[in-house]
Amino acid sequence: MSTSVGFLSTISPSACPLHERHSGAAPSGRLIWPRVSCHGNGDARQPPPSSLLMDRRDVLIALGGLTGGAAAAGKMALAAPVMPPDLGKCHYAHSSVCENLKCCPPYTSATPLRVRRAAHLVINDHEYMEKYREAVKKMKELPDNHPWNFYQQARIHCAYCNDAYDQVDFPTVPVQVHYSWLFLPWHRYYLHFYERILGKLIDDDTFTLPFWNFDSDDGMTMPEIFTADTSSPLYNANRDTSHYTPAILDYKYSYGNTAGSGETGKALVLANLCYMKKTFKQSLPLAELFMGDPLRAGEKADSTNGFGQLESIHNAIHMWVGTPECPHIDMGDFSTAGKDSIFFSLHANVDRLWHIYRMFCGNKVEFTDTDWLDSTFIFYDENEKKKEKNVGIQVRDCLKPDKLRYTYEEVPIPWMNVNCRKTTETEEKTKTELSLVRVEPFGSDPRELSKTALRVMVPRPKKSRSKTEKEEKVEVLLIKGISVDTEGPARFDVYISKPYGDLAGPDYGDFAGTFVRLPHKGMKGKERKGSLKLGITSLLEDLEAEDAEKLVVTLLPRMGEFTIGGVGIELLQTDNPRLL
Ligand code: C2O
Repeated sequence: MSTSVGFLSTISPSACPLHERHSGAAPSGRLIWPRVSCHGNGDARQPPPSSLLMDRRDVLIALGGLTGGAAAAGKMALAAPVMPPDLGKCHYAHSSVCENLKCCPPYTSATPLRVRRAAHLVINDHEYMEKYREAVKKMKELPDNHPWNFYQQARIHCAYCNDAYDQVDFPTVPVQVHYSWLFLPWHRYYLHFYERILGKLIDDDTFTLPFWNFDSDDGMTMPEIFTADTSSPLYNANRDTSHYTPAILDYKYSYGNTAGSGETGKALVLANLCYMKKTFKQSLPLAELFMGDPLRAGEKADSTNGFGQLESIHNAIHMWVGTPECPHIDMGDFSTAGKDSIFFSLHANVDRLWHIYRMFCGNKVEFTDTDWLDSTFIFYDENEKKKEKNVGIQVRDCLKPDKLRYTYEEVPIPWMNVNCRKTTETEEKTKTELSLVRVEPFGSDPRELSKTALRVMVPRPKKSRSKTEKEEKVEVLLIKGISVDTEGPARFDVYISKPYGDLAGPDYGDFAGTFVRLPHKGMKGKERKGSLKLGITSLLEDLEAEDAEKLVVTLLPRMGEFTIGGVGIELLQTDNPRLL
């Protein structure tokens, strides 16, 4: 087992660009980004990768073009606060009184670092699997009203996701941990306590939840630890069993709409990897594109703001696991999702992807806004104490997994190196020119989106932006005033293409992102409007559309009915200028 304690600490922010390779695509699964440290805490034992495996820019960066590279060599000061030393690494002190002075106190780490492992890799570790089953069994056997009881734990998710609490001082505003920047931190804490409770039940303080490595070739099926044995405490009968192995997960899944990615087998795996890569690449310049918009006290989630693209992918996976028939229990509905053990593995990987995102960004705090950092949650911990404000349960205290004493096993990240430059979504020009149609602007009134695609011509604030301009501001496509005209599940996908004057071909162009919502009672109608923000700077480069004054934006309804308030393009200040 590879227990990589320094998981990803060896990835440099300079490695973020997710550049396409134009020749000699790396073999899938091979990590070829410069393995240098983000903040000088990298593993010095790692040799630099062969320069043959990197493109020129990566080589320059690895040689120290950016701070990450320089820091790894330990040669240059960093513009960052001083961090505490690694207590496990003590060498002789310098003293004129005696030589070979060892003055570090004996180091014992109070809490062991728990290493979460990939679900498809733990299946043959019988000792671990025995423990996991035993822990969940014990959790299920606890008295119904015990806060650690399996179903009580599942209810926590329901309570925070289905409007069971109101915000303090705002009696009409429910507490909601989806659809905003609270999504990732809240679920991180939820898993953290859940994991510790399971460990406590089997008296093992190293116990971890496995992560569903759905962003890797081998992890793109439903993990068999949850499906193979119907008598296992990890089994749940409320699923779409047609999606059991060998069915391949489709990030573009929606109920009753088999189109999905339009691919099967290996091509579907590749489509998912490219989707993941695109999600990272487009959202690296601005955290909210990945993690969700701000949500402050008194604001209703899903009222004016939107969720990040990681949450969208996660929503589609919820649907893919849950029963295809209404009411889509258990995983397809937030009120029941926690009753399926697979939930915690899905979320462990979502959490891992957040961790990767953060590493790509040099461990930068995603939002320095105290309305995020001070947001506070309450959970029961494994000692049955109620954790409250100021006892380590604010967003600011969960930003680094090792602070919560867990990490992730190092596994390959195949989407980093996958070559996706031209996808099948983009047809050749000659084909599309044969049947050009006029595309009108959105107009000033809201428009319906139900059965057919809505195509609009959207002006860009600026064309032919320079590299410096792109580093300063990210181009963002905004779909505003989205109301879902149903309480059921809903999804539409967004495509962008380059017009020919005011004309567009039948091809929708390249996939830019998606809006996916699970069923949600009370979320129907005009007063609950959301928005969708998609970073398109890198997409326009891929489309070779940087010189276009306008873009054709296509909203493709997949499930449910919508009213759309408007579509626009804005330039937003990036918070990661170096990452384009
Ligand atoms: Cu709270 Cu996967 O959802």
